[in-house]
Amino acid sequence: MSRPILRAERLSKTVRSGDSPLVILDGVTFAVEAGESVAIVGASGSGKTTLLGLLAGLDRPSSGDVWLDGHALSGEDEDRCAALRQRLLGFVFQSFQLLPALTALENVMLPLELAGADDASQRARAWLDRVGLGKRGHHYPRQLSGGEQQRVAIARAFSGEPKLLMADEPTGNLDNATGREVADLMFRLNREHGTTLVLVTHDLDLARRCGRRLSLSAGRLVGDEKVGSDSNFQPPAAPSPEGEGKLESDPTFSEGNRGLSPTAG
Ligand SMILES: Nc1ncnc2c1ncn2[C@@H]1O[C@H](COP(=O)(O)OP(=O)(O)OP(=O)(O)O)[C@@H](O)[C@H]1O
Ligand SMILES: [Mg+2]
Repeated sequence: MSRPILRAERLSKTVRSGDSPLVILDGVTFAVEAGESVAIVGASGSGKTTLLGLLAGLDRPSSGDVWLDGHALSGEDEDRCAALRQRLLGFVFQSFQLLPALTALENVMLPLELAGADDASQRARAWLDRVGLGKRGHHYPRQLSGGEQQRVAIARAFSGEPKLLMADEPTGNLDNATGREVADLMFRLNREHGTTLVLVTHDLDLARRCGRRLSLSAGRLVGDEKVGSDSNFQPPAAPSPEGEGKLESDPTFSEGNRGLSPTAG
């Protein structure tokens, strides 16, 4: 078996709540191979966002460890964790976390510029096009709706073409059609570029499309099943009616279908 791209070993997180400790995560252990698509599901408050933050090295566990592409995060300082994230990881936060002082385009350009891309602006524009916001690049996050900010955050996470994409409720603020399009885009990346997906979601359709489902309950991993039909591990499917499989040539989203005019906003 190849080296997992992500491994969690007895991951626990406890915080103080008044006088008593509050256990948020309790001994979570699993490994993800490159190219897998994994849904993390569980009731609200079960620890999903906390787990994702630990997996990305954005937060530190109380005990246990995370290995990202073979690097134990406990052995890395903040700078080296940030460098690992930059090299490997795209992250979509539940609360978007766009930088308010930057336009949509500048937000998407940021990871590309950090990686030293000399065509950052062009590539960021292409990603904004793909999420249906090609004409909104000059708008600041406060000028965008929640769903639009979510799509900018998704474009930003994709723009560096990471090996590993972690997303916290990536379709949570999107209508059904847009959510499906975002999911289509993620699974195309998974199939065509081997991008590993780790998605926290309440969206049953999205969870169903993942090759594997991890279930959390009250901070414990209570289920780990192979499921789904869009896993990278399955033979390539015939192109669907939506034209899946044309990532390079076809923008997934069409602004025209969304009622956005070039001067909208
Ligand atoms: N820093 C903290 N201090 C105290 N409690 C916390 C802290 N961070 C998280 N929690 C608590 O830990 C539990 C798990 O939180 P988490 O955000 O991981 O849940 P979640 O599964 O992502 O929920 P949701 O589906 O609502 O997003 C919650 O009860 C939350 O209130
Ligand atoms: Mg959450």
